Amino acid sequence: MKGKVALVTGGTGGIGTEICKALANGGCKVAATWLKGVDDGDGWLAKLKAEGFDFVIVEGDVSKFDSAAAIVKEVEAKLGPVDILVNGAGITKDGFFHKMKWEQWEAVLRTNLDSVFNTTRQVIEGMRQRGYGRIINISSVNGQKGQAGQANYSASKAGMHGFTMALAQEAASKGITVNTISPGYVATSMVMAIKEEVRNELIKQIPAGRLAKPEEIAWTVAFLADDRSAFITGANIAINGGMYMG
Ligand code: CAA
Repeated sequence: MKGKVALVTGGTGGIGTEICKALANGGCKVAATWLKGVDDGDGWLAKLKAEGFDFVIVEGDVSKFDSAAAIVKEVEAKLGPVDILVNGAGITKDGFFHKMKWEQWEAVLRTNLDSVFNTTRQVIEGMRQRGYGRIINISSVNGQKGQAGQANYSASKAGMHGFTMALAQEAASKGITVNTISPGYVATSMVMAIKEEVRNELIKQIPAGRLAKPEEIAWTVAFLADDRSAFITGANIAINGGMYMG
């Protein structure tokens, strides 16, 4: 993957940051997206610079098609055509379905699933023309098994893998692989936001007995982005400490 251009949506988040680092360590030029009012892009960039990483950050809302188009345009102007796209932007708005508001459903579907269309659509034609591409969608164990309190999130994450399987078939002959990674519960602010007693019950359901480390997810992204993974496409790689084996 040396010299390849990678775009990581949600790149300033808990898992996203480690993905950016792993791709940079593999020799990629890496751009991360961040969203004003939600993330601290400049603070993140400065922190990572102090650690020796030279990333590009682009502000924008991948849940909106025009914003995603502007993001990709800016990345391409700064780094060149996108070779590796990691769809990592995601949110939760948990609640039992009988109490769920349309806004909770809509926000999660827009950010987690529409964003996959919005960003991938910007890069797919160029990847086809150049005969190379890696698209990696960060889904969730809860897209595979479902989770009480997450009808919106589980639907969005299951939808991501449906997208992966369809596009993998369309793009395979053009040197493009499309894969899903389904992390279990990872030690990030998203999981730490779950009420402590609920979280402890969830951890009891993980045979490994602990949360995943973000770098354990990033490692698999780098593996899929590697040139030697060219024959892996349409896969859904579970990284959940044994929580679910579907
Ligand atoms: N299945 C069925 N019923 C359940 C249940 C479950 N798993 N858990 C709780 N209930 C019941 C309770 O027994 C209770 O019943 P009564 O009203 O009859 O007493 C009722 O549901 C209400 O439970 P809570 O007090 O927990 O309800 P709440 O409104 O305070 O909280 C919730 C609801 C926000 C959904 C909370 O249960 C929760 O946070 N659950 C965890 C959801 C989760 O796993 N989120 C993952 C976030 S991280 C992530 O998404 C990353 C990733 O990819 C893994």
